[in-house]
Amino acid sequence: APDIPLANVQAHLNSLQTIATNNGGNRAHGRPGYRASLDYIKAKLDAVGYTTSVQQFTHGGATGYNLTADWPGGDANNTLMLGGHLDSVGAGPGINDNGTGSAGILEVALTVARENLKPERHLRFGWWGAEELGLVGSNYYVAQLPSAERSRIKAYLNFDMIGSPNPGYFVYSASGQPTGSAQLQQTLQAAFNGVVATELTSVGGRSDHAAFARAGIPVGGLFTGAESVKTAAQAAKWGGSSGVAFDRCYHRACDNIGNLNTTALDRMSDAIAHAVWALAGVGTPGG
Ligand code: PHE
Ligand code: CA
Ligand code: ZN
Ligand code: ZN
Ligand code: ZN
Repeated sequence: APDIPLANVQAHLNSLQTIATNNGGNRAHGRPGYRASLDYIKAKLDAVGYTTSVQQFTHGGATGYNLTADWPGGDANNTLMLGGHLDSVGAGPGINDNGTGSAGILEVALTVARENLKPERHLRFGWWGAEELGLVGSNYYVAQLPSAERSRIKAYLNFDMIGSPNPGYFVYSASGQPTGSAQLQQTLQAAFNGVVATELTSVGGRSDHAAFARAGIPVGGLFTGAESVKTAAQAAKWGGSSGVAFDRCYHRACDNIGNLNTTALDRMSDAIAHAVWALAGVGTPGG
């Protein structure tokens, strides 16, 4: 799989930070910084040949938006989907949560285009609105999908917080999900072989994969940790600070452009690409 350029991922995060700064300090549902974030991502994808779609919904009296992007071609009856939420909480710019997942999948999508990938499987990317208000956008997307369309999505990978400042390297455990997939779990674990040790984590229903899992779609994902505290054993294998949260700025104003571990962000972004190249059928054994 190609090496995802960290500098490009960071450039997207700088743009999301600027959007928040220019729009009252956040990118939250119903606020102008959300729509500006979506417009930024959409323009990048449109420019390289994605078929994008903006889906509107209403929550709490405000209009919310999901963005999906389809890479033309591939077997749509065997679609591989990747996603993450694009909204922040109201308290701050949401750079780790979840600018990182949003920027990581964006740069992987742009790399697919740059390499003019012709995968066997159809590829679709999603950026969800109003996750912070109860997984609203992703639930709406799955609920609105006609059942025939739903059954064509054979896997969904979720990326919510992949650059935590005191990072762990977590792969969603297959056993922690109603439709956890050993294949997806193992593919994501393998992406870190020779790079860094991973741990499985049972994220339960705490992010946007939940709607896909409830709909019977196999799910997996990556995570560098939120409010829980790094143990001594985890600090020994990953570095960083034991007894300190993976992300001390989780859901706070200080989740800004400084609230990142760029090594983790780079490794996680590369792992997303590894999973796409390994799963999508690109004719390069070993990915
Ligand atoms: N979904 C949580 C949030 O956005 C973060 C989270 C992701 C927690 C994955 C656990 C597992 O606040
Ligand atoms: Ca990289
Ligand atoms: Zn999140
Ligand atoms: Zn959050
Ligand atoms: Zn590989």
